[in-house]
Amino acid sequence: MEQTQTTNDQYAVIGYPVEHSYSPEIHRIFAQQTGENLSYELLPVEPENFEAAVRKFAATGGKGLNVTVPHKEAAFKLSSELGPEAQRAHAANTLSLLSTNEVRGDNTDGIGLLRDLTQNNHLNLNGKRILILGAGGAARGILPPLLDSDFAELVLANRTVEKANELVELFNAAENLFVCPFNQLGEMGSFDLIVNATSAGLKGESFSFPHSCLGSWSFCYDLAYSAKQTPFVQWARDHGAGNAVQGWGMLIEQAAESFAIWRDVRPDTAPLLQKYANH
Ligand code: ATR
Repeated sequence: MEQTQTTNDQYAVIGYPVEHSYSPEIHRIFAQQTGENLSYELLPVEPENFEAAVRKFAATGGKGLNVTVPHKEAAFKLSSELGPEAQRAHAANTLSLLSTNEVRGDNTDGIGLLRDLTQNNHLNLNGKRILILGAGGAARGILPPLLDSDFAELVLANRTVEKANELVELFNAAENLFVCPFNQLGEMGSFDLIVNATSAGLKGESFSFPHSCLGSWSFCYDLAYSAKQTPFVQWARDHGAGNAVQGWGMLIEQAAESFAIWRDVRPDTAPLLQKYANH
């Protein structure tokens, strides 16, 4: 993709597909708010071209990239320097292009989720039973800060159980972390917090998990976000969850964290939270 040379610092979100991303709008609002002179674009790149596209963006003046599906693990591998969260997750969602060959990888997804859960939604994770659905790149990114919280039990459920086992090994994790195949979820009782980190239902296929996981007090959080209802939020509401929200707040909070890494100034997330997440 041709890059136009401009005098301001260039940033982009790299993914495939990426057209649906709200990151350009969010970062432009942060830049206006903080008086930072930068541009922020969409960079659609297929997996086989990821590394070449990052190097080219850096060589043509690019300063940083947000990384989305399916490149977060490739971004980790390409990084010559890593922040602690990316190091733990083996996945990066924020790249700082220090030079054409020097790239720092950070992961702000987990801190974004935690802020949205605990500060914006006033959830206390102490002593709670947490269920995470999915074991792909999205699940990896959110696990480090959740594992650091004072939860009672964390269950990782995935359609392909081997991938959940790999994640548990990677995190060398706590004794109260368990793996559960989807077909045994019905025997696990109900959870206080259920996080959907799968892409199930997003392509129009049927979406169903055992609703015995849900109680009237359960807080259901979808990492996905959409202008319409997401299949997970719909499922949770249909089966009586206490509360079910899309991942707008996490999107905004992880973006603010990336912005602070790049520009050394923290934007105020409140106006965007009000606009998209009704906080
Ligand atoms: P991401 O980086 O967004 O996590 P990913 O690595 O492709 O994307 O992972 C997608 C997740 O959604 C995986 O946990 C996947 O389960 P598998 O590991 O079994 O593939 C899950 N997923 C996708 N479609 C699903 C479906 N129809 N039902 C259940 N899980 C699904």
